[in-house]
Amino acid sequence: MSLSILTRTKAMFAASLVFGLMSSQSALAETRTINDGVFTQAQVDAGKTTYDTACKTCHDMRFYRDALKSWDGQPVLWMWETILGTMPADNPGSLMLEEYTDVVAYILSENGFPTGESALDPDGNMADITIVAP
Ligand code: HEC
Repeated sequence: MSLSILTRTKAMFAASLVFGLMSSQSALAETRTINDGVFTQAQVDAGKTTYDTACKTCHDMRFYRDALKSWDGQPVLWMWETILGTMPADNPGSLMLEEYTDVVAYILSENGFPTGESALDPDGNMADITIVAP
């Protein structure tokens, strides 16, 4: 009898391990959104400086509410690439890649999305982060 209890306990332990693995895997596979703290305060601060010199003359922040709405469900990488490829309109692609990333962080922050621990990184995670409408 004690043996069967031990066996059952082992089986339950194994099952909880498997279940734990499965749920942590699905949490990893789950796509994050711009609501999940996907850029840092340092990026926002740097982005504001760049924004004020390179973007502010042509766009106020209201402009991005509509842009973000129209990009709802798209990866944030797509937003970054669009800005990189077309902006500033008078000199597209003229900023450094890092500056574009910081500007995106600043725009998201100004539209109410939270900062977090991990930095936005075009080489890493931006394809897996989804835009949601502000
Ligand atoms: C010289 C003026 C000018 C500057 C500077 C400028 N833009 Fe633009 N931007 C425009 C115009 C014009 C459009 C297209 C018309 C529109 O959508 O209102 C546009 C469109 C956009 C769009 C929408 C793109 C789309 O496909 O939906 C974004 C986002 C944007 N700009 C971001 C930026 C950012 C970020 C900067 C700074 C790095 C910047 N712009 C600098 C004039 C400018």
